Amino acid sequence: MTPEEFRKSGHEVVDWIADYLRDVGTLPVSPNVKPGALIDALPSSAPETGEPMDAILKDFRDLIVPGLTHWNHPRFLAYFAISASGPGILGEMLAAGLNVNQLLWKTSPAATELELVTLGWLRQWLGLPEEFFGIIHDTASTGTMHAILAAREAAAPGIRHSGEFPALTLYASEHAHSSVDKGALAVGTGLAHIRHVPSDAEFRMSPAALESLIQADVASAKKPFCIVATVGTTSAASVDPIRPIAEIAARYGLWLHVDAAYAGTAAILEEHRHILDGAHLADSLVVNPHKWLFAPVDISALYTRRPEVMRRAVALTDAPPYLLADGAHREVNLSEYSLALGRRFRSLKLWFVLRSFGRQGIAEVLRRHMDAAQTIAQEIAAHPDFEIAAPVLFSLVCFRYKGSDEDNRRLLEQVNASGEALLSSTVLNKQVVLRMAIGNIGTTMDEVRRVWALVVRLSRHAG
Ligand SMILES: Cc1ncc(COP(=O)(O)O)c(C=O)c1O
Repeated sequence: MTPEEFRKSGHEVVDWIADYLRDVGTLPVSPNVKPGALIDALPSSAPETGEPMDAILKDFRDLIVPGLTHWNHPRFLAYFAISASGPGILGEMLAAGLNVNQLLWKTSPAATELELVTLGWLRQWLGLPEEFFGIIHDTASTGTMHAILAAREAAAPGIRHSGEFPALTLYASEHAHSSVDKGALAVGTGLAHIRHVPSDAEFRMSPAALESLIQADVASAKKPFCIVATVGTTSAASVDPIRPIAEIAARYGLWLHVDAAYAGTAAILEEHRHILDGAHLADSLVVNPHKWLFAPVDISALYTRRPEVMRRAVALTDAPPYLLADGAHREVNLSEYSLALGRRFRSLKLWFVLRSFGRQGIAEVLRRHMDAAQTIAQEIAAHPDFEIAAPVLFSLVCFRYKGSDEDNRRLLEQVNASGEALLSSTVLNKQVVLRMAIGNIGTTMDEVRRVWALVVRLSRHAG
């Protein structure tokens, strides 16, 4: 591809993205396709000779796009809605163009330093202490796995040489994300040694239940090593009480990791700062700019108060004098704190987002989402056929049709099959519950009302 060919197709691609972002709300949120549709539509082997870019872009538009679920859609309210903001997309495009690999400081000094700077800025916005060292991973799942690995290193440093495991036990709320179990699995905590701690009526981990489980494990010669508390659980966006959990972690010498992947961002707002109360006592914390901070997937920030332990957990070389201890933050090789050697230039898109929005700009969108959640929750609660299923703390509304689980499942299927909106479901208090997760940058109160009207209309056929 010559520079001129690149320029021509590049302009076409940018035009396409600009139109797409403008018009995405007119597309079906999710496609009406059968499994295998794209596989059948594409040749079974790659072309022998190169094809023109026009043909590739045409197939992208005609074959690929119609089979996509549009996470950028303003009525995508499933899972935790995410969005790629304009500034974030521009940063991502430039990172792809530069294609630097920041495995060591010297392989791209500015890329490493921008990661330190942007995570420092985000740390300040979240009100986390200065000694928290941040590193970017692709996802919260990877960040949490690294935290659990560091917890293992702190509890049983000999394992990195011997590979011989004591019976390590890990604790997370029954509502913790599956990435916690996966991370524990990956670092060698058998599934039988993961304790799912019961929660209270508002889906928050019970510190008393946590301590009883730890005591029972200690009494039966197990070795508790890690607690994961969640700020914004996936099912209900509940917030585990970090401070009392941190006190228990300190009492038993356990690593405390906080999974704030979704809701951590809300701490940018003064009125929500309290959700991270006690987080300064944690050993690590993960928050996802690709969830509710308008950076395109993938980018997740992992902070730790004990980077030297994180490094020991994954580095193969002997620890050099601790590079960050003097606060100099000058020549850090980030791959020494991570299992991956190669590192994409992910901080660039975050830098674009943080600068382009500013704290106030971000706060405005977060407040708009949370206000919409509160307003629609009131309307749902006032409807005779529906009920709210969990406190609405952020931008997630859990609700159910007052019928059977089957009625709720059918209603969800009908809403999603309409292509008008996408919701997801979970189980709370043993009942199927619908989730309306407001988080797309384009989601307004009008869009949320439109989805709610659709739900009500379709519910008339549900019972
Ligand atoms: C609370 C929580 N933690 C972790 C994750 C996993 O995030 P990721 O996809 O970045 O691994 C999710 C995903 O929704 C989540 O809700």
